[in-house]
Amino acid sequence: MPTGVNRQILLVEKPVGKLGPEHFRLVEAPLPEPQDGEALVRVKLISLDAANRAWMYGATYRPELETNAVMAGGGIAEVVESKAPGLAVGDLVFGDTGWQDYAAAPGNRLSKLPRVEPLTHLLSVYGIAGLTAYFGLLDVGRPETGETVVVSAAAGSVGSLVGQIAKIKGCRVIGIAGGAEKCRWLIEHLGFDAAVDYKDDGLFKALRAAAPKGIDVYFDNVGGAVLEACLPLMNVHGRVACCGAISQYDGAPAAAGPRGVPGLIVVKRLIMQGFIVMDYFGQRDRAIADLSAWVEAGKLKVEEDVIDGLENTPAALIGLLAGENRGKRMVRL
Ligand SMILES: NC(=O)c1ccc[n+]([C@@H]2O[C@H](COP(=O)([O-])OP(=O)(O)OC[C@H]3O[C@@H](n4cnc5c(N)ncnc54)[C@H](OP(=O)(O)O)[C@@H]3O)[C@@H](O)[C@H]2O)c1
Repeated sequence: MPTGVNRQILLVEKPVGKLGPEHFRLVEAPLPEPQDGEALVRVKLISLDAANRAWMYGATYRPELETNAVMAGGGIAEVVESKAPGLAVGDLVFGDTGWQDYAAAPGNRLSKLPRVEPLTHLLSVYGIAGLTAYFGLLDVGRPETGETVVVSAAAGSVGSLVGQIAKIKGCRVIGIAGGAEKCRWLIEHLGFDAAVDYKDDGLFKALRAAAPKGIDVYFDNVGGAVLEACLPLMNVHGRVACCGAISQYDGAPAAAGPRGVPGLIVVKRLIMQGFIVMDYFGQRDRAIADLSAWVEAGKLKVEEDVIDGLENTPAALIGLLAGENRGKRMVRL
């Protein structure tokens, strides 16, 4: 049994406007004692996700966050003591460890993981981001070879994989991201066919120029004005995979739009489908087999943005919401 303190980051207040450092506090607590059926785990990597911010609004697909409790978040951890059947000291697991050095968690809430090199890939391409991109694009968006796929938050963890998988499937791929430099990076580094800066005026015109044959699949990570710009450009029988709505997460006033709904949905016979990656966990093996084959063949670049130090986790999330990251952002403890 390890001894020492457990550094924890508490969510002390739920933000009304933008998320700031004042909403968190670093504290020290004794190490938790695992109860029967639980394992004590040492957290190694904390996943930073746009959804961390969305959870602060209330119950979603997970229970409401409590204030003055450890901030929730997914993490990769190593078992250091086990009273849970099927888990042994040294096992590597994924679970909702929260933002802390150690967590005691029920064994049935921890998923055992293989050891891969680098370990960070378990949070990026083989983690939630990779599975979200894979199932959201292929099962919800269902792109065909030669079709045009548009993805927003394209330089982020999910988006950067969506665009590359669409290229692997033989599609024309257009990324939407913030800033000329990110857009250039999408084309030159990730091999997208075109990229559009949504922070520039004239998003609709720029998208129309980049997608002269219209859009067949729009993978929507952001909602709001970007979704509104894409809808009129959708082709008949196009698919919109609704993955998230990051433009609405960080204190933005509720969007009035998108305009054109439901008229455009009817006229163009569009399918707009939301999905949550957890629904696909039973099919994970199929995705991991494809993703690892593409990574090993050099067809899929894995972009990771690793920040060191538990104490830097709040700033890392605030920065992600402001678009600092390229690819999967995580904190290494
Ligand atoms: N459905 C599911 O099961 C599931 C699972 C995982 C994630 N998601 C969703 O996937 C999306 C991406 O999440 P992530 O965790 O991978 O984050 P991420 O894409 O790595 O980072 C978020 C990016 O969003 C962009 N962004 C921030 N504010 C924006 C705004 N107002 N309008 C447009 N873009 C904005 C920023 O890039 P720019 O510089 O380009 O602005 C930022 O880098 C989120 O909507 C999340 O909720 C859904």
